[in-house]
Amino acid sequence: MSKVTVVGAGNVGATCANVLVTQGIADEVVLIDIKEGLSEGKAMDIMQTANILNLDTRLTGVTNDYEKTAGSDVVVITSGIPRKPGMTREELIGVNAGIVKSVTDNVLKYSPNAIIVCVSNPMDTMTYLIHKTSGLPKNRIIGMGGALDSARFKYFLSVALGANPNEIEGIVIGGHGDTTMIPLVRYAAYRGIPASTLMPAEQLEKVAADTMVGGATLTKLLGTSAWYAPGAAAAQVVGAVIGDQKKLISCSALLEGEYGEKDLCIGVPCILGKNGIEKIVEFDLNEEEKELFRKSAEAVHKTNSALSC
Ligand code: LAC
Repeated sequence: MSKVTVVGAGNVGATCANVLVTQGIADEVVLIDIKEGLSEGKAMDIMQTANILNLDTRLTGVTNDYEKTAGSDVVVITSGIPRKPGMTREELIGVNAGIVKSVTDNVLKYSPNAIIVCVSNPMDTMTYLIHKTSGLPKNRIIGMGGALDSARFKYFLSVALGANPNEIEGIVIGGHGDTTMIPLVRYAAYRGIPASTLMPAEQLEKVAADTMVGGATLTKLLGTSAWYAPGAAAAQVVGAVIGDQKKLISCSALLEGEYGEKDLCIGVPCILGKNGIEKIVEFDLNEEEKELFRKSAEAVHKTNSALSC
């Protein structure tokens, strides 16, 4: 029996719960929110698709009652405010840090062995905050940003190539920020063929640039932060853990010397399995990529310095 809690029944949390249920990723899912009735309503709406879609997962919604989340294997934290058009993710730190800290305390009280998946923004800094305040071993705290950014990279590559996104390889490392993420264009491929040989350099550069502002573009179009891909990316990370899949997914992980950095959480290729982050894979970066990563880490450190922990 696998149990997953999703904290926050906003757009991202509810979408994550919906994907967990529709894909049958967990046996039991609890959606929890502080707003009276919100998680109950969303859970009921989703569960009313069960017969139509032939679903077996049980989803329940609860208002602020953490006891109901007890014994979760994985907890996804989506709590906090989303950004509005024109805002950076970093500007959310003041409000979201307090929320993420108290949610983490509540969650661990009832699920002391859970693996935590952090979605709240600024995601790398919130993941670091959970490390600093929870004292959990580093494998048990996963920031989901790179999974989302890599999905967006593969989407833009597939559009540029007129190809099926499932046949595209692409990974984004670095911070989950408009100027800090690093789409690794050198490793992008279509069925093993380097993308750089399939399109002009300027087109590949545009794909990378569109990926970096992928979230901001959607925030502008929607008037609030995106949710379908963020929710699905969080569910993908959960699935890799619950299913002990050993999948290589870019995630925000605590570095202790890997990629030449330490004392921060930032997107790197991780192997995910039942123990959470089971391995950080060190890609052979060239000098230019190393410099981009160094700058990205510097920016994430700067955002982290605004934390009071
Ligand atoms: C985004 C938010 C979830 O990138 O950070 O859409």
